[in-house]
Amino acid sequence: MSKGIIAGIALTLIVGFVGGYILISFGFIPANADGKPPALEKWLARKSLRATLEREAPQTPNPVALNDQNLIAGINLYDVNCAVCHGASDAKPSNIAIGLYQRAPQLMKHGVEDDPDGKIYWFIKHGVRLTGMPAFGPTLTDEQLWQLTLFLKHMDSLTPEAKNAWKSVPSSAPRS
Ligand code: HEC
Repeated sequence: MSKGIIAGIALTLIVGFVGGYILISFGFIPANADGKPPALEKWLARKSLRATLEREAPQTPNPVALNDQNLIAGINLYDVNCAVCHGASDAKPSNIAIGLYQRAPQLMKHGVEDDPDGKIYWFIKHGVRLTGMPAFGPTLTDEQLWQLTLFLKHMDSLTPEAKNAWKSVPSSAPRS
């Protein structure tokens, strides 16, 4: 490769880095949560998430049995850890859910019942970078992660007893 081409590449990289640094330093890359994500940012984030899920989400089925005990354990864990962002059975968002960047889906309305178990489990265990979706791997046991997965997977087809437990999770919407 000629010296000229190498110098050209080096100059382009330097200009790119310096340009990026100046844009960030002067506040031209927005850091606020109350804006709409630009198309490029959305595309990059989605692509990275899809590729990571494909590589890392377990392919195995849910190891915990589908019964009232595990469903209700999942609902109780959801009540304490998730409802504040993903809503209760009335699907009415909390102020926190509305203010997040990315918005937290209200799972009663936009559920994940059609997703594979391993994908739901991955979301709960690892969270999603820069979105507010926390990783629960460090705080919940593997059994609890799968009980939550079981509940989300069957949210639209709960047994009568589990449905009662789900309906009794208090709404996350602000009380007016
Ligand atoms: C502080 C808010 C917050 C909490 C608490 C939270 N999440 Fe999330 N969650 C989010 C956000 C925001 C997203 C969207 C991430 C994205 O856009 O990729 C998300 C995404 C998800 C998804 C993927 C949804 C989809 O449509 O693919 C699942 C599943 C999920 N969360 C489950 C849970 C569970 C289960 C808990 C509790 C153990 C929980 N989340 C707690 C904010 C939260």
